[in-house]
Amino acid sequence: MKILLLGNTGQVGWELHRTLHTLGDLVALDYPRIDMADPNNIRGVVRSNHPDIIVNATAYTNVDQAESEPELAMAINGTGPAILAEEAIKLKAALIHYSTDYVFDGTKGEPYTERDTPNPLSVYGETKLAGERAVEDIGGTHLIFRTSWVYSLRRPCFVTKFLQWARQHKTLHIVEDQISGPTWARTLAEATAQVIAQGQHQPVEYIKTKQGLYHLTGKGSCSRYEWAKSIIKWDPNKEEQVVESILPAASEEFPTPARRPHTSALSNQKFTKTFNLNHFPWEKVLQLMLQLD
Ligand SMILES: NC(=O)c1ccc[n+]([C@@H]2O[C@H](COP(=O)([O-])OP(=O)(O)OC[C@H]3O[C@@H](n4cnc5c(N)ncnc54)[C@H](OP(=O)(O)O)[C@@H]3O)[C@@H](O)[C@H]2O)c1
Repeated sequence: MKILLLGNTGQVGWELHRTLHTLGDLVALDYPRIDMADPNNIRGVVRSNHPDIIVNATAYTNVDQAESEPELAMAINGTGPAILAEEAIKLKAALIHYSTDYVFDGTKGEPYTERDTPNPLSVYGETKLAGERAVEDIGGTHLIFRTSWVYSLRRPCFVTKFLQWARQHKTLHIVEDQISGPTWARTLAEATAQVIAQGQHQPVEYIKTKQGLYHLTGKGSCSRYEWAKSIIKWDPNKEEQVVESILPAASEEFPTPARRPHTSALSNQKFTKTFNLNHFPWEKVLQLMLQLD
């Protein structure tokens, strides 16, 4: 089996690179060898590699900057995945793609399921929704994993930023009206590999029988404020912290170019039931990542 991994320097891509190589012949590419904003480049890369499975870990992920670069964000998050889906069909390959809880407006008040209607509040959310819909509409063999609040120690994210702030400031104000599911990039990569492995010698055919959209996040949910307190609690180098108090705040106190949903936690029920895979609660995973990575 040949797997083409796109975006291997990203949080999820880096973990996929170390996880997927056990499953077959892995080709991992990052920008500029793959440029998801350039349809001709995408076509050339896929055709020259002739994969059985394409795993797309690329994305335009800067939520605030996307507000001022909507065309580029749409090219990478919306059009690029559509081209991948078209090319995958031609090769009879499967496409595995990732999306976001930011396709929702956060007003439901309880975890979203795959049946809930998206209503993105930001350009980033709109472009990711366009990518999902294109992959679904083009209709080849695919899996879309919608995830949330991805973290790792490899690139700047809420966890790395908060560890830094806790070493610089005595008092920190963290929003408590944004609620979702923190998800370690490694959890996503391992779940992806386990799903492919379930297909044994016929992974593309297996994916075809299970194809569709799945929510896949850390188990449970919390506010950013609770997440921050947990990061402090499990920080392996607590002696470096100078922070003395962490105070809850409202999103309105920190205006950002992009609007974010208030409660965008996703229900993992469909994924867990379909693939018979379970995960630790988000805080246990955070503890493992901070103390073992
Ligand atoms: N991060 C989150 O909190 C979060 C939340 C929900 C869903 N997701 C979704 O999860 C998936 C993985 O996210 P992540 O956190 O791993 O993202 P990430 O760390 O920002 O990585 C994105 C990857 O895409 C690459 N990339 C950007 N523009 C490109 C282009 N024009 N052509 C080719 N590659 C390009 C980046 O390359 P460079 O290294 O050159 O920048 C990087 O390798 C994405 O689909 C994202 O939308 C993420």
